[in-house]
Amino acid sequence: MSLDRRQIILGALSGAMTLGVPARLLAQTDVARVDALIGKMTLEEKAGQMTCLADSFRPYNPPNPEAGIQNEKQLAQEIVKGRVGCLFNGIGVAGGLRAQEMAVKESRLGIPLLLAGDVIHGLKTIFPVPLAEAASFDPALAERTARAMALEATAAGLHLTFAPMVDIARDQRWGRVVEGSGEDLYLGRLYAAARVRGFQGRNLRRDDSLLACPKHFAAYGAVAAGMEYGSVDISEETLRETHLPPFDSAFAAGALTTMAAFSEINGVPATADRTLLTDILRGEMTFRGFVFSDYTADEELIAHGYAEDERDAARLAVLAGVDMSMQSGLYVRHLPDLVKSGAVPMGTIDVAVRRILYVKTAIGLFDNPYRSLDPAAETARIGTSGHRALARESAARSIVLLQNKDAVLPLGADDGEKIALIGPFAEDRDNLYGPWAFYGDKGKGVDIATGMRAAMRDPTRLMIEPGCAIDGPLDGGLARAVEAAKAADVVVLAIGESQDMSGEAQSRTTIEIPLVQQALAEAVAATGKPVIVLLRHGRALALHGAVANAQAILATWFLGSEAGHAIADILFGRVDPSAKLPVSFPWESGQEPFFYDRKSTGRPVVDQRTEYKARYATADNSARFPFGHGLTYTDLVLDKLKLSDAALRWDQAIEVRATLTNKGKRRGTQAVQLYLRDRVASRTRPIRELKRIERVTLNPGDSKVVRFSISRADLSFIGAGNKRIVEPGLFDLWIGDSSIGGLHTQFTLYAGEPAAT
Ligand code: BGC
Repeated sequence: MSLDRRQIILGALSGAMTLGVPARLLAQTDVARVDALIGKMTLEEKAGQMTCLADSFRPYNPPNPEAGIQNEKQLAQEIVKGRVGCLFNGIGVAGGLRAQEMAVKESRLGIPLLLAGDVIHGLKTIFPVPLAEAASFDPALAERTARAMALEATAAGLHLTFAPMVDIARDQRWGRVVEGSGEDLYLGRLYAAARVRGFQGRNLRRDDSLLACPKHFAAYGAVAAGMEYGSVDISEETLRETHLPPFDSAFAAGALTTMAAFSEINGVPATADRTLLTDILRGEMTFRGFVFSDYTADEELIAHGYAEDERDAARLAVLAGVDMSMQSGLYVRHLPDLVKSGAVPMGTIDVAVRRILYVKTAIGLFDNPYRSLDPAAETARIGTSGHRALARESAARSIVLLQNKDAVLPLGADDGEKIALIGPFAEDRDNLYGPWAFYGDKGKGVDIATGMRAAMRDPTRLMIEPGCAIDGPLDGGLARAVEAAKAADVVVLAIGESQDMSGEAQSRTTIEIPLVQQALAEAVAATGKPVIVLLRHGRALALHGAVANAQAILATWFLGSEAGHAIADILFGRVDPSAKLPVSFPWESGQEPFFYDRKSTGRPVVDQRTEYKARYATADNSARFPFGHGLTYTDLVLDKLKLSDAALRWDQAIEVRATLTNKGKRRGTQAVQLYLRDRVASRTRPIRELKRIERVTLNPGDSKVVRFSISRADLSFIGAGNKRIVEPGLFDLWIGDSSIGGLHTQFTLYAGEPAAT
């Protein structure tokens, strides 16, 4: 009997396991094999299985500071002694085979290694950063790109990716906003599940199935003031309402591992938090896989002021429920003695080892330790033209049209207009991929100028001037840019953040265009020529002056290998923009944290001038560009909102209908959004919450009725006692094209029969 993903999920949901593993559903031979192994393992070998070390057989340029990095010789000795169970962040079949052969043939018990790595938005073919892809408002697209990433990663000798990052990010100062799906819970849940499905595929034992590791458990995105590695101080309600559900979705989709967050929650570092990692994660959420620490996070318990020393840190982490220690080597150094001295029960170790070995079993490693180490796949499956085409498609569908005054876009690819492409990103190839793309070949992405030239019938119409560097002036650059703008009919201004400005450890106090680039924008706009801004960024930005007032603005994030082609596709209208913002663009940096589903307060703002209301005196409460916002090149109009019944019975559903019509002259796609608000509840509820998305594509003149079904399950929230509850009462409902405005109606949820009127 073979074990597939569905069986594991069923196991995960059955809640009937004694040891925290889906043993009941494993093949008897697998269970027997794991049991037999555990019976034979020494304490040191068990601690070794629970240890994950940087792969120095297949080194790369690590994103992390060096910590206890082994050299190749030392690492080989550790493998042979059975003192390591997992290697991470090296790629390549030859090196992987060497390491695996050592483990299988030379270690006493021959337990194969798990080979892990951070494949966050692509291995060699780089797809848009996850935040950009969330803007497509199309999880099915993310499932496809995750599958492509898995095909490449497994062809390069990996079994597991430390992805997706499912942290909800509501403060744009935090650099890791770029790695997730943005500020919204519903979107976060859809993308978490889609990416897990994409990475893992249907059958975990297949050579091209890549285990997912949704991270960072939990609430890492809620670090105070967006400061990386900072502290999290949140209510249990917020933890459960906002930060845990995307993990639920990822586990329900079949994820078998997760990673504890670096941060602390309410005084307890996640890595040592037994309530979080055991009671909630395993007890309540019925997670049945294994937990990685983050990079040296167990050792960092000392700096947190939570552990006395390394030994204490290892003890706290393992007792909390961290099964696999990443990079510190603390487990292999201290667990044997901790068990011998009685500080850690042998049972705790056996459960952790069992979890790890079951995951290895689940992906077929014992039957085929050389899976995902096939030299033929390495040449055939990486960087294929199919993947490049998908990268282009997903990149174009991630670009958000924020502003388009006088329909300045799309530009004509065939007309005689002279275009000045100005800005430090015009020809830049070093900042196309974005953070976390360190396996991608440098310089192999398509820059904007190349993409535009390829799309134009007469490329000589394109003038190019950088104007300035990303963070400083260029000698004479500004003057040359102004001359180019004067000589042109239209300016395309490529400005924004470098890829080092977002990602891990890249928190910023302001989220604005660097000053030198802002000055470039002002000078170019002063020529009076229409300006189309192409933003490059890993977070929402606060835009000002000439940038905010440009005729058109496109959010182009970090789009990956095919960035230039995708941008040209949108600029010249080969692809119609259809993306939506997964993060709100505030007016000012100081509005952060900012998210659309905030609370009303006792003094909600009526208009921005009225005093003594919940507002800043210096900025509007709204966003410059709200969550869910994104324009198209056509005119898509929603009307005829209808409910099947304004009374929702407890065990029934109501149907919501609205008609979308394309009244413009071009084909277009709208991501129709449904939002709800619970008017009165025993715990205050947000002013609106996204509950459904439906992407609809229409030709000019065509209409479509969009239908949604709403039931009690959509109205639940974390209530008293931190339990999920539903309360009868009145609800607002909006259907629209962003988190602002839309068609409005109301319905009432009844616990019993609605009273006759
Ligand atoms: C990051 C993780 C990552 C790990 C391994 C850490 O610094 O927080 O997200 O998976 O490194 O590279």
